[in-house]
Amino acid sequence: MKIVGTIAEMRALCRSAKLGGKRLGLVPTMGALHEGHLSLVRAARAKTDVAAASIFVNPTQFGPTEDFSRYPRALEKDCAILEREGVEFVFAPAVEEMYPSGAATWVTVEALSDRLCGKSRPGHFRAVATVVAKLFHIIEPDAAFFGQKDAAQHAIIRKMVRDLDMPVAIEVCPIVRESDGLALSSRNAYLNAEERKSALVLYRSLRRAQELFQTGERNSAKLIAAARQEFASESNVRLDYFEIVNPDSLEPVLDTPSPSLAAVAGYVGNTRLIDNVLLGA
Ligand code: PAF
Repeated sequence: MKIVGTIAEMRALCRSAKLGGKRLGLVPTMGALHEGHLSLVRAARAKTDVAAASIFVNPTQFGPTEDFSRYPRALEKDCAILEREGVEFVFAPAVEEMYPSGAATWVTVEALSDRLCGKSRPGHFRAVATVVAKLFHIIEPDAAFFGQKDAAQHAIIRKMVRDLDMPVAIEVCPIVRESDGLALSSRNAYLNAEERKSALVLYRSLRRAQELFQTGERNSAKLIAAARQEFASESNVRLDYFEIVNPDSLEPVLDTPSPSLAAVAGYVGNTRLIDNVLLGA
């Protein structure tokens, strides 16, 4: 496995790997890898001929009061894991390599970027779209693999790829959960034992909406109200949003057509976590 820090070297490696018609799969990550990331790597290995991963904690997608400086970093361990999983190239650039001084160009997927997490994280999705567009230009993957947990992120990337005619297939892999339902996230590492328990309210609220949906309830306001009730008994958790939206446009829906995305975000102590389920998928 080759670990590469420069754009020129990564581009050259990926281009030569694709010669002869091999399909290249990319798993973009910020490192601190867990089973969720590994499910993406395994999908990339299964669906393409050569798997590449990027590890880059992208500073521009963190707000000024967010956790950029303490975001878990474990490059050596991550590379060992990726090597075991059969990844051939890892792109792990420095911040200066990705953002030369004076860089002033952004990719903004309008409207979608201001929905769900975009409301409380202004500029976040613009930064995600920009860094992912850069990775696509550098690596030129045939397919790129993203997790369903970041449902707004992949909706925005799918729209960017369509709007800008990028020749890359976006593959979305299911959420990987702990046995008690907690969605895997690199940020779960911040939780103490008590917060870890409280964090389960996110999935509980989604399950509540899902159960009601399965009994035939289609009024989104009623589903949301029932889901929000779950938070009443969790003083450790501050709900940011619980919304039911169209999975592509991320616009709220009133009567929960199938499929709809029920998405939740909340602060467990200081840790912001997200989760979602597809209703009627
Ligand atoms: O999902 C993530 O880890 C990041 O948002 C991504 C897609 C690697 C862009 O920095």
